[in-house]
Amino acid sequence: MLWGSRFTEKFDDKALEFSSSLSYDINLLEWDIKVSKAHSKMLNKIGILTDEENKNIQQTLDIILFKYNDGTWKPSITEFEDIHSAVEAELTKIIGVVGKKLHTARSRNDQVITDVRLWIKNSINEISNSIINLQKSFVEIASQNVNTLMPGYTHLQRAQPISFAFHLLAYVEMLERDKERFNFTFEQADENILGSGALAGSTIELDRNLTASELGFSKVSENALDSVSNRDFILDFLHSCNLAMMHLSRLSEEIILWTSFEWHFIKLGDKFTTGSSLMPQKQNPDLAELIRGKNGRTFGNYFALLSTIKSLPLSYNRDLQEDKEGMFDSYFTLFDSLNLMFEMIKSMKVNKKRFSEEIDGSFMLATDLADYLVLKGIPFREAHNILGEIVKFATDENKKLNQITFEEYKEFSPLFEKDVFNYLSSETCLQNKKTYGSPNPKLVEESIKKWNNLLN
Ligand code: ARG
Repeated sequence: MLWGSRFTEKFDDKALEFSSSLSYDINLLEWDIKVSKAHSKMLNKIGILTDEENKNIQQTLDIILFKYNDGTWKPSITEFEDIHSAVEAELTKIIGVVGKKLHTARSRNDQVITDVRLWIKNSINEISNSIINLQKSFVEIASQNVNTLMPGYTHLQRAQPISFAFHLLAYVEMLERDKERFNFTFEQADENILGSGALAGSTIELDRNLTASELGFSKVSENALDSVSNRDFILDFLHSCNLAMMHLSRLSEEIILWTSFEWHFIKLGDKFTTGSSLMPQKQNPDLAELIRGKNGRTFGNYFALLSTIKSLPLSYNRDLQEDKEGMFDSYFTLFDSLNLMFEMIKSMKVNKKRFSEEIDGSFMLATDLADYLVLKGIPFREAHNILGEIVKFATDENKKLNQITFEEYKEFSPLFEKDVFNYLSSETCLQNKKTYGSPNPKLVEESIKKWNNLLN
């Protein structure tokens, strides 16, 4: 038994099954082995293990990982409380008494969280790569759609024309912030807490800098009590997953709208849509809906851990074992969603001409006409009023803004000149934009160039 001779009765079977984390902390195996190898090397250096013993432990740990990967070692939740005890038991089974030396000056309290820190650092690298791939595909599609017009919305009401490229680049920005948030989380996780023991360090003089450099941590934690109870970096990780999923969910919502009959703006490849068992004509964007739907669980995982930790006294409490399931779930949810979104986006066909006719002379250009009058010297509020009247007139007459005659414009304001029509065409509306950060195709091209340099 893991906790030794003090107990006379074996742990209850049901209690073990209830409390075992093995079914999910098996995801930590690779990292647990790495941590144990680093610990063993350090114990050797400080004279607790001989060279021979260390070598034996190193090789056997490798064998255990190998045996797990090829299916010949499969620890059971009816036998072990967690992955750490399962590995230690297997090690001892293979090499006998030497295996029992490995846990010197180490507690599962510091071991588990060292594993988790490594796992998170690696997961962040994987997520960041997937984010970059998605950003690249947005930039690529943007480069083909700098002049693809679409309505920009506020309140989901048509507001001002923009380009599809401009819309996609908004998501590139959002994903960039996601990456930065993950970078911050990486730094939070990048600390060696091994050597903190159960909560108060050890009377044996461990070399914590050695395990830090073996495991690739850039710093060593300061306070053992905090080290074994700190789960803030997991919350940071869950929150980073949350915001990235929330961004994918917003995009999914837009994809769902754009594929609808009413929008008729994009079409997803057959490989990434489903049909209906009843209605033969249906083509449904299920994957986008699922990504949007799965956002619920990442929010939940974050809130669940926050609630678990909120009243815990220092330092380790078994409640903290609840930090893992949600963490793995948020990771897999985000990672799969990013990769599927990437594939789905690649399969997308854009109906480039969809909106140009509707935008030509539309009310979405009314603001540009107000600006036009401002540049002729009319105070903005007055210009706004004049345009309000023009829109009312056009609505009553069932006309678009480019169907109002020059003479009619003159009646609303003598300052209108023939060039007013330059502001009413779908061909020129984006070029007319002057501000940095606007959808002016020249500026969008520059953005695309910038992103291509940054991402490649
Ligand atoms: N499975 C446990 C966890 O994930 C490992 C630490 C157990 N420590 C203990 N003192 N029971 O939190």
